[in-house]
Amino acid sequence: MASSASSLVNSTILISILLCAMTGNSMATKSYHPKMEEKMTHLHFYMHYNFIGSNPTAIRVVEGPKNETTLFGSILVMDNPVTAGPEMETELIGRAQGFEVGVSKDNFNLLNIVNLVFTGGKYKGSTVTVQYRTRSELWIVGGTGKFRVARGYGMLKTYSVNQTTRDVIVEIDAFVLHY
Ligand SMILES: *[C@@H]1O[C@H](CO)[C@@H](O)[C@H](O)[C@H]1NC(C)=O
Ligand SMILES: *[C@@H]1O[C@H](CO)[C@@H](O)[C@H](O)[C@H]1NC(C)=O
Repeated sequence: MASSASSLVNSTILISILLCAMTGNSMATKSYHPKMEEKMTHLHFYMHYNFIGSNPTAIRVVEGPKNETTLFGSILVMDNPVTAGPEMETELIGRAQGFEVGVSKDNFNLLNIVNLVFTGGKYKGSTVTVQYRTRSELWIVGGTGKFRVARGYGMLKTYSVNQTTRDVIVEIDAFVLHY
């Protein structure tokens, strides 16, 4: 009798411990995985790129072995201002920081891997990582802050080229899925 009572007490304690552990666990899980709800954000901005002007935003850090036409094997590093409107004087919302590599022997074809680092506006502190191979379409591979688990796509369009300063303004329209 005494022994079965004590085993009952023991199993009650065991169940309480298990329940505690389970509750603790589910709370921990909750804090690591908040209820995930997918959102879509439309980003529209302008990137200011200059490679051959007197005030470049892109510099070549590795010289390809020969072909100047294709830039095959060359590596460029860039830090381009990103603004809300096409003019440089409009709100500065971030920087496009990354690198581009000549990846085609026979054509001019640069693989671009770029972090869009938002330093102003409503996405300040967040980043989106994009890749593109020609200045036409980009794909989004990730992000931080507001753009965690980001994916999506976007279009790039040359908005204008200043023949004096060699400033190239690129319009970017992107659709980001994120949580
Ligand atoms: C550079 O690439 C162009 C275009 O493919 C080609 O016509 C030319 O022969 C190449 N030059 C060298 C030195 O490889
Ligand atoms: C090119 O840039 C220079 C210097 O900012 C400016 O004076 C000129 O008007 C620009 N040209 C065009 C066509 O926008």
